Amino acid sequence: MYILSIESSCDESSVSILKNNKIIKCLTISQIEIFKNFGGVIPMMASDLHVQNLPILIKKIKEEFNDEFNKIKAVAYTEKPGLVSSLRIGYICAEVISIFKKIPIIPINHLHGHVYAVEINDKNKIIYPAIAMVISGGHTSTFFLKEKLSFETIGKTLDDAAGELLDKVARKLGLNYPGGPEIEKLSIGGKHKFKIPIYNNLKNLNYSFSGIKTHCINLINNSNFNEEEKRDFAFSLQETVFENIINKLKIAINKYKPKTLILSGGVSSNSFLRNKFNNIKNIKILIPEKKYCTDNAAMIGIVGIKKFLNKKEK
Ligand code: KG4
Ligand code: ZN
Repeated sequence: MYILSIESSCDESSVSILKNNKIIKCLTISQIEIFKNFGGVIPMMASDLHVQNLPILIKKIKEEFNDEFNKIKAVAYTEKPGLVSSLRIGYICAEVISIFKKIPIIPINHLHGHVYAVEINDKNKIIYPAIAMVISGGHTSTFFLKEKLSFETIGKTLDDAAGELLDKVARKLGLNYPGGPEIEKLSIGGKHKFKIPIYNNLKNLNYSFSGIKTHCINLINNSNFNEEEKRDFAFSLQETVFENIINKLKIAINKYKPKTLILSGGVSSNSFLRNKFNNIKNIKILIPEKKYCTDNAAMIGIVGIKKFLNKKEK
């Protein structure tokens, strides 16, 4: 089955056509270069850019893949969570296509898209039950999936998301937006020399990153790091956050006994984090290809097809 999907939850406008789990095409215009000038996303500007870019992408994908476009059986779009004004632009595009093509429109949860990004191009197959962790700029959420499409939230951040923490600390260090990849680059060759306090209540599976954020910002304010100290600090920050995430996950694995562990969301493109996950023993580990870790429409299409087929089966 062919599906068209649209993603516009934050600062990427993205459109994709999939045939089952295979990408026919995924076109994305990122707004990151623009928001680098501001150090972060400006929501109204992001939605204006979606207004400008989504029609360009839809036109382009239709022109290049007209045969496939004519065969689409449904249109999926990111319904939530995300920037409300940006989400609405994606919804309107999807609704108009659905009306004109007389095909169903399927709302998709962005986080579910991140999880199923591991199945893009049939690279992997999730074996259930599974635990999935989405670590992004807006979320740090752990889900238990007893079966396909059944998402039970078993842990989440109580305040800032892990990606948000990296973005904000990076900004304080004078690095570009988004800060996660910048911190990763800076940390290469660094050592774990800074002892950074973190909320580490192992009695539950929730996370809290606002305390560590404040600590890091105060530390930067009160220090005059040289290049080596900056590198060690970036390394220590990553180690502290990623170890905290892995420790909690190990508790979740003991409790829920999943067959698969999935890591996804923008932060999962971080090589240090990917290595730590891949070192977890006795469980199938799935992580999307780096290019599908950050926001894209293909991951929304994968969930769209599953939801569409699920309805048909019932
Ligand atoms: O999933 P995503 O593209 O958008 C949201 O749904 O939020 O994630 C963006 C987040 C940003 O916080 C960014 O700094 C972080 O993912 N990120 C990284 C890396 N690449 C992106 N964090 C750490 N290391 C990376 N290589
Ligand atoms: Zn995302």
